[in-house]
Amino acid sequence: MNASQPIGIFDSGIGGLTVAQSVTRLLPKEQLIYFGDTAHLPYGDKSFDAIRSYSIRIADFLLDKKCKVILIACNTASAAAYDILTEYVGDKAIVMNVIDPLVEKVAGDKSIQKVGIIGTKTTVASGVYEKKLKDKRADLEVASLATALLASMIEAGFYNNSVSQAVINSYLSYPDFQDIQGIILACTHYPLIRKEIEFYFHSRIKVFDSTDIVAQQLHDVLFKQNLLRPESSNMPHEFYVSDYTPSFEQTARLFFGNAVALNHSNIWA
Ligand code: DGL
Repeated sequence: MNASQPIGIFDSGIGGLTVAQSVTRLLPKEQLIYFGDTAHLPYGDKSFDAIRSYSIRIADFLLDKKCKVILIACNTASAAAYDILTEYVGDKAIVMNVIDPLVEKVAGDKSIQKVGIIGTKTTVASGVYEKKLKDKRADLEVASLATALLASMIEAGFYNNSVSQAVINSYLSYPDFQDIQGIILACTHYPLIRKEIEFYFHSRIKVFDSTDIVAQQLHDVLFKQNLLRPESSNMPHEFYVSDYTPSFEQTARLFFGNAVALNHSNIWA
């Protein structure tokens, strides 16, 4: 591995772009290779086995592109496939997930006695957040809710409008959330509806998402291993999808400007 290699990031779709955007802000010299597995979206209702096999195939693709890091910018794939990918990739690249940095942050925040978690069905059913949070802070109360519609709703372009606010309000009125001091957005699609979530809670509680927290962790890991790129890459970021969706293109352009060239790559063909 060397500092001039790109950073690989993947998600089922546009969610990981929220993390990728924070990474480019904090690490503007790095080149990103992004893969959105839109052909298999949503991951949130798939089995662990299915998500593991998609993740391994995507890791192969990113390793072929010579990535020094494979950042799983998806909570569902982080819950299902982080351990297996770490083993599979070995010392060819650094594998990172989006769950550990958030757990660290929330467990260390002593103003939170009870935290809510919203995520996909698969992430919530895995219990991974509760387990990791309790390992770090046994006294922390946790209330989790699978918000199955949200990722697909966002992927279809429904955010910051009356439809999305109605769906969000209905989920967040979950009785067990009424006495929380913080909420974890355990899906990388949800930063796109962060304002609507804050609006629901009248900004009374802390909202934690993976964007800047994960970007900072990535910086720290690369810094420690002397793998931060010293000079700006003159290579543009690359964006790949396994199936073309207009919302992916739209969101990628919204985040990274009109110069985004979208490549359609069916790595399963
Ligand atoms: N963005 C993903 C996550 O963080 C998954 C959404 C989905 O495909 O269901 O879990």
